[in-house]
Amino acid sequence: MLKATLHISEKFDLNKHIILYNGSCLDLLKQIPNKSIQLIVTSPPYNIGKEYEKKLGIDIYIKQQAEVIKESVRVLSDTGSICWQVGNYVNKGAIIPLDAILYPIFQNLNLVMRNRIVWHFEHGLHCSKRFSGRYETIIWFTKKNQEYVFNLDPVRVPQKYPAKKYFKGPKAGQYSCNPLGKNPGDVWDIPNVKSNHVEKTEHPCQFPIELIERLVLSMTNEGDWVFDPFLGTGTSIIAAIRNNRKGAGAETEKRYVNIAQDRIEKALNGTLKTRPMYKPKYDPKSDNNKLTISPFYPQIKNSTNFNHIGLFAKHTGEAL
Ligand SMILES: C[S@@+](CC[C@H](N)C(=O)[O-])C[C@H]1O[C@@H](n2cnc3c(N)ncnc32)[C@H](O)[C@@H]1O
Repeated sequence: MLKATLHISEKFDLNKHIILYNGSCLDLLKQIPNKSIQLIVTSPPYNIGKEYEKKLGIDIYIKQQAEVIKESVRVLSDTGSICWQVGNYVNKGAIIPLDAILYPIFQNLNLVMRNRIVWHFEHGLHCSKRFSGRYETIIWFTKKNQEYVFNLDPVRVPQKYPAKKYFKGPKAGQYSCNPLGKNPGDVWDIPNVKSNHVEKTEHPCQFPIELIERLVLSMTNEGDWVFDPFLGTGTSIIAAIRNNRKGAGAETEKRYVNIAQDRIEKALNGTLKTRPMYKPKYDPKSDNNKLTISPFYPQIKNSTNFNHIGLFAKHTGEAL
């Protein structure tokens, strides 16, 4: 498949490769045949009053989500996966983890949870009355009593001790690990898309492409359909087409559809800037970034409220 020759269509058609629908996901879902999608992956609005959503009563929010999830399960293939990426709903300082309240919807639709992946990242709001939130989750479901696609090899990560050998038994002296790498586990440390991330657009909560690529590569095969009901800036479609899958998604806000279109076109012609999978996280200390040297220690070292600063210094080797 030569990517530059692919076109973006507005209506769902199994013979096309890319569907970008400007409208409600429920309307696009009506166009999608039963059991035709291999991976449904999305991050829905969290009902926290972001610029693209109206804050609803939690019961109404759950009802709306249930409608989309039910239709999504209708279009999911028997070997397929559905991944709902969510954080917390926050109301007057109380947090409600959305995965916990959405779980029963999936369970009642006869789906089985395969993983609750913790996506850890380091940038976000600084809280003063609770610890700052630095993870969200991806809840992954497949159909009950069905074989499902799970390709581990394309998403393996480097082993910690690749040179380790069995020290006893019939394999003594042989390397003990899988040379293709290890299972990435269910805690993923992937930078979120904040101000100086190479993929940042004006959308306030974009997926990093590498997060979705890991799901696409492990849960689909080439030529399969990937569908995102709450598409935003088109990340799920981009993760799909970069890996020779087909991508579809709906987005109500025209300005995000425009951004998605631009990004998809750039992905097709090879000019989209992305943070590559497996690129190590930026480490400001090993990069000798001067901002990592604290100017505060001398001034506050005698204050009893800041005894921990002495401990910081002891552990990081900084002079007090
Ligand atoms: C959390 S954002 C998703 C961002 C996306 N993951 C990305 O990488 O850009 C949720 C998106 O859903 C859109 N949205 C809200 N209600 C929708 C609906 N009923 N149908 C389709 N899109 C909707 C919002 O405008 C918003 O852009």
